[in-house]
Amino acid sequence: MKLNIAVLSGDGVGPEVTTQSIKVLNAIAKKYHHDFQYEEALMGAIAIDKTGEPLPKETLDVCLKNDAILFGAIGDPKYDNDPTAKVRPEQGLLALRKALNLYTNVRPIKAYNALLDKSPLKEEIIKGADMVIYRELTSGIYFGKKSLNAAGTIASDVCTYTTEEISRITHEAFKTAQTRRKKVTLVDKANVLETSRLWRKVVTEIAKEYSDVSLDFLFVDNAAMQMILNPKQFDVILTENMFGDIISDEASVIGGSIGLLASASTGDNKALFEPIHGSYPQAKGKGIANPVASILSAAMLLDHFNLNEEADDIREAVEESIALGVCTADLNTTSTYSTDNVGDFIKEYITNSDDLNVYPTNVEVGQSTII
Ligand code: IPM
Ligand code: MG
Repeated sequence: MKLNIAVLSGDGVGPEVTTQSIKVLNAIAKKYHHDFQYEEALMGAIAIDKTGEPLPKETLDVCLKNDAILFGAIGDPKYDNDPTAKVRPEQGLLALRKALNLYTNVRPIKAYNALLDKSPLKEEIIKGADMVIYRELTSGIYFGKKSLNAAGTIASDVCTYTTEEISRITHEAFKTAQTRRKKVTLVDKANVLETSRLWRKVVTEIAKEYSDVSLDFLFVDNAAMQMILNPKQFDVILTENMFGDIISDEASVIGGSIGLLASASTGDNKALFEPIHGSYPQAKGKGIANPVASILSAAMLLDHFNLNEEADDIREAVEESIALGVCTADLNTTSTYSTDNVGDFIKEYITNSDDLNVYPTNVEVGQSTII
């Protein structure tokens, strides 16, 4: 298959981790005889520095003309610490999500057996946890009207949802639940918010079309608690934009590191794949960022084009790297493996996993030439 991929590596550790994903995608292309072409474009703080805009028009054009987008990370402390900044890197990502109509954000979360002891949560609580968050991505409070009065003393952000916006992602969540443990949990704040009450009404109605899937509801405050008390109860979580943002960072604790969490953002035409972690500016250029979230996002990209065997191949290599302890320091404080080493291992494993003389034994005993 020929795939044209726009690469927006962005800020902070974005470029370092995206480089590993491209390495891994190239190994897949070679092994399965695909042709993956990449086109780079600027986005985020780096784009502001060079063009004055967080999402330059050329970048949007590059995204529109390619089949998919691989995104790195966005954000820079010089904007975080300046509430008066007129332009912010994050605006680029939000504008891109909106312009491409990427309304469904999918964030899978699971506890890896080899990492159970890495989570601050107890092993018995997280062992077997496996859920996917469906976060609405192009509406709600993120995109409502914003205002600040002239005196700078009163601000507002309006949260709006339409039936149509709720319904399209709800169908996606239910379809996925049918392929999993057949349970959808709608996370909302229907005891307070009108938008949440609309979500409940629309979702309850749609649920009738999926009689094999059960639906339950949780208020977001309770959901935040349940997430760490009993994460195994969740299969598919469906939620609006801001609740999904918050709850997915919380859920990352189950996996042992936010550096493992991938995501896909899809709409009717385009699709974007990105790690859920931010730009981690303190780590920039140090080679310590975990590339796995980006690499697993590349696997989700392949799934999107029905290259499921190839995607599974990446996931198997990632699991092997974790099982063998070929991890960055976020997963193993005594690790000496760099971002690049982990990417190399995963790439080599994909290329050579059939050759049992090479893998994984030699790596285990430290004889590998690649790390
Ligand atoms: C995310 C991020 C973004 C969001 C930021 C960078 C705008 O936190 O993708 O979760 O809030 O959506
Ligand atoms: Mg977030």
